[in-house]
Amino acid sequence: MAASEQDGNLAGTGPDAGMDTFDGANPREHFASRLGFILISAGCAIGLGNVWRFPYITGQYGGAAFILLYLVFLVILGLPVMIMEFAVGRGSQRSAALAFNILQPSGKWGWFSWWGYVGCMMLMMFYTTVCGWMLAYVAKMGTGAFNGLDAEGVGAVFGAMLANPSELVGWMLAVIVIGLAVCSLGVQRGVERITKVMMVALLVVMAALVVRSVTLPGAAEGLAFYLVPDFGALFDNGLGGFGEAVYAAMGQAFFTLSLGISAMEVFGSRIGRKRSLTGEAVRICALDTAVAIIAGLIIFPACFAFAVAPDQGPSLVFVTLPNVFNQMPLGQLWGALFFVFMSFAALSTIIAVFENLITFTMEKWDLSRRSALIRTGVLVTVLSLPCALGFNVLAGVTVPGIGDIQSIEDFIVSNNLLPLGSLLYVLFCVTRGGWGWKGFLAEADAGQGMRFPRWARGWLTFGLPALIVIIFIMGYVPKIAFWLGVG
Ligand code: ALA
Repeated sequence: MAASEQDGNLAGTGPDAGMDTFDGANPREHFASRLGFILISAGCAIGLGNVWRFPYITGQYGGAAFILLYLVFLVILGLPVMIMEFAVGRGSQRSAALAFNILQPSGKWGWFSWWGYVGCMMLMMFYTTVCGWMLAYVAKMGTGAFNGLDAEGVGAVFGAMLANPSELVGWMLAVIVIGLAVCSLGVQRGVERITKVMMVALLVVMAALVVRSVTLPGAAEGLAFYLVPDFGALFDNGLGGFGEAVYAAMGQAFFTLSLGISAMEVFGSRIGRKRSLTGEAVRICALDTAVAIIAGLIIFPACFAFAVAPDQGPSLVFVTLPNVFNQMPLGQLWGALFFVFMSFAALSTIIAVFENLITFTMEKWDLSRRSALIRTGVLVTVLSLPCALGFNVLAGVTVPGIGDIQSIEDFIVSNNLLPLGSLLYVLFCVTRGGWGWKGFLAEADAGQGMRFPRWARGWLTFGLPALIVIIFIMGYVPKIAFWLGVG
């Protein structure tokens, strides 16, 4: 029996719950529990953005002051867009494939469904490769591949991995197989059950790691760097000053919540109306933020304890940290656990985005779950190859001012699809040509819990769209300056 019939708490209260026929004669499958919905949405949010990107950009922009800036954008920008995505999903009880046409049948919003599909697909195109690095590092750490190496030796291991196409493609394929295997079991039995276990395991491993890190002799200096705000560093970061820090904080808010590409929308379509969406979104954002901040609490005290500079950009995790673990008692064990933590975070996003693509495919082309899974699996595999090969056989493929294939894909997603897609969600939910404020508000507020603030309407109608346009333009300024030769 489908959840929409079993569970009066969450399911069966949507506009057409129990009448879903997109998968043959089966009613739409809702999540079995509220916890399942929250952990899956948090799993979609919690990923490389939290455990890899957040710590290194926080290091680059001077620690705690950057975190405060980021929290401001999370609240004024990320949270409302997340609520809008959930509202569109719950209001339509469909994925982005059909949601816009259902909520606004007379408009031309149907084309926007593709935005989410393309966005999720492009995210997967580089995410599968980087998630593969995490799995590779669990194996390398666990088997002692870094034992006895100096800093240069550790860097060489990372370099050798990138230079080896079969190794990168192999790990990428492992990631895809895991994601598909989980989704093949269905929403409740696969995605919900396994993500729940993985998220709980992630929290347990994270707790162990943070205790280890903050109790290391010399950890206090790292804690001070991370937690005592240095506002001067926001302005004087050697990376373009305050504007650059603001841009990084806003971009991080979009990326970490996977906003604008309908990744969250689909989870809204699998719940009922017992709880208001604002309260649920606050919980999900809080979990996401907690994991990001705790990832820094693991990394920075350990770096300072062993006198390793923490501000090394993307290689912080792959080059700096193995050096730290090499110096730590039982470092092989702690290092392997650290990359298990990273892998769980990344895999939770992979599973969630796969589920999104599969549901979209089922609804758009009226396919069974099995056919949608095969089609999605083949597409993601083929489209992930350029990124994995972009570090070796396709290393010559670059765009000046942007970089290699992975950087190009990341640029398309992070600088374009996420902010512009978020802008379109906002316009859909606040303008009359779209779903409109009334429809959105009624859906967001349906159920018990926190109401969506009425006073935010002006901000959402004028302020937020303007801010997103500014973010978008700011992302292009350094690129255009570079292309014109003035950067
Ligand atoms: N939200 C995902 C992450 O943070 C994309 O990694």
